[in-house]
Amino acid sequence: MDFVPRAIEQAQEKLAEFPAEMFGVYCHDVTKLHELPNLRAPYDMVVDIGCGHGIPVDEAVQYAQDISSLLRPGGVWMLYAHEPTEEHDFGWKLADVCQLSSGHFDLAEQLLSQDTTNGMPSGWYRLVNRG
Ligand SMILES: C[S@@+](CC[C@H](N)C(=O)[O-])C[C@H]1O[C@@H](n2cnc3c(N)ncnc32)[C@H](O)[C@@H]1O
Repeated sequence: MDFVPRAIEQAQEKLAEFPAEMFGVYCHDVTKLHELPNLRAPYDMVVDIGCGHGIPVDEAVQYAQDISSLLRPGGVWMLYAHEPTEEHDFGWKLADVCQLSSGHFDLAEQLLSQDTTNGMPSGWYRLVNRG
């Protein structure tokens, strides 16, 4: 899922050799997941690599709730997020991830490090859906 049409086109190109029933590609804003009726939930895993962290933390509570609704109980949200810095005022710190996910997820694992491409402080989080 991405809200940029070119990203969706690239995904469709990469998936062209796979049977259509194996995947779904959606041009959509992830802050409005609850408005998409045709997703194939429940999912075992949601992977978010650098998408959600652009959503302000207070607004991301709805995003976390929507992901929880799409996952089966015990399903996993694998999340990669940059942390905000003085130069970049977007991103989620560990405390933000805990805050926005605490209503629906248990934080099972975290790995805080620096992004290998730009050096930004970043984290991987494994969040388990309570269901
Ligand atoms: C850092 S890129 C990561 C792309 C992909 N996850 C990957 O690993 O190659 C972040 C992507 O999130 C998309 N994005 C950001 N905010 C979004 C939103 N609210 N809804 C849907 N897509 C969004 C951007 O258009 C961009 O393509």
